[in-house]
Amino acid sequence: MSILIDNIGELVTNEPDQGEGLLGIRRDVAVVIEGDRIAWIGPSAQKPPADSRIDAHQRAVLPGFVDSHAHLVFAGDRAAEFGARMAGEPYTGGGIRTTMAATRAASDDELLGNASRLVDEARRQGTTTIEIKSGYGLNVADEARSLRVAGQLTTETTFLGAHVVPAGSEPDAYVDLVRGEMLDACAPYAKWIDVFCERGAFDGDQTRAILEAGAKKGLFLRVHANQLTEGPGVRLAVELDAASADHCTHLSDADIAALSGSNTVATLLPGAEFSTRSPYPDARRMIDAGVTVALATDCNPGSSYTSSMPFCIALAVRDMRMTPAEAVHAATAGGARALRRDDIGRLRPGARADLTVLDAPSHLHLAYRPGVPLISTVLHNGVPQ
Ligand code: NIG
Ligand code: FE
Repeated sequence: MSILIDNIGELVTNEPDQGEGLLGIRRDVAVVIEGDRIAWIGPSAQKPPADSRIDAHQRAVLPGFVDSHAHLVFAGDRAAEFGARMAGEPYTGGGIRTTMAATRAASDDELLGNASRLVDEARRQGTTTIEIKSGYGLNVADEARSLRVAGQLTTETTFLGAHVVPAGSEPDAYVDLVRGEMLDACAPYAKWIDVFCERGAFDGDQTRAILEAGAKKGLFLRVHANQLTEGPGVRLAVELDAASADHCTHLSDADIAALSGSNTVATLLPGAEFSTRSPYPDARRMIDAGVTVALATDCNPGSSYTSSMPFCIALAVRDMRMTPAEAVHAATAGGARALRRDDIGRLRPGARADLTVLDAPSHLHLAYRPGVPLISTVLHNGVPQ
């Protein structure tokens, strides 16, 4: 089964040697998809025949968004906490325990239903790959079940037993549980392991112990680092070759130096700063220092209840001084790097056929027309959604 998309006004390839600028933009081109892969990209005038056709009407076609950071397995919401915050209360992360209680009390079907509703919501906004973390179970059975739910929706599953220490547990005993019995129960369902390295959550030594135990079990590493305060998270992520250090809101010069030239992506989550009314990370300083940057939603019921990558792109452009091209690149190719994937986040023959047709002539419109639903068609694995 082949599909021809023709009459493309602007194709974002993320292959700088194939087109203009960082996004490798090509114009007046056509794309042919065979099965779940891109088979051909070339001038519209030379398009080969295919079984079916999508006319892009001179609009923009982009790689599907790669949302490399989301917490979708939970029950309940924390709208009241958000309301209180907008009236002046600070965000502390303490609400994680509220969501833990609701999550433990929910049935498997409720957890799967809520998470798949959010995956569908993200898909309608152009997301074709989404990472999903556990982290609201915080005991052996509920963390393992959260990962079984996540695994029904994505291959990018992350064990986040080290989200906070649940009330009533002694911190060192909980760290031992996470890197022992809980890891044993969760590793079969997880690709990644993550730790919330932060004052009030897990310190540098605890984070290192948990990540090293996960790596020994064959999991790959990512870290919630430097979200609320400067701390050891970012440097630890780089030292342990984590794929990504996420948040990066409070960075020292040494953190920036460690990230630049490393294999660790800085994943910025502006939805969290928006929803906690906090200062945004200094994306300009990172990019100018040569750090690879990704954008993701951090979708969760506490600090960032958005599934919208276009919203995050608009925030990154307006409030983090990223150019529209940098933000679109970070939301596609950057996310792919943060998941160490080279089959997604770019459009070239052989890549996965994950792409979106915008209801707009250019990628610029994602930031230029904030809040407007501009995703008109989404293909995932070559299948129109
Ligand atoms: O990435 N910071 C830690 N975890 C989430 C927030 C979780 C919550 O508040 O429920 C985050 O922002
Ligand atoms: Fe997070």
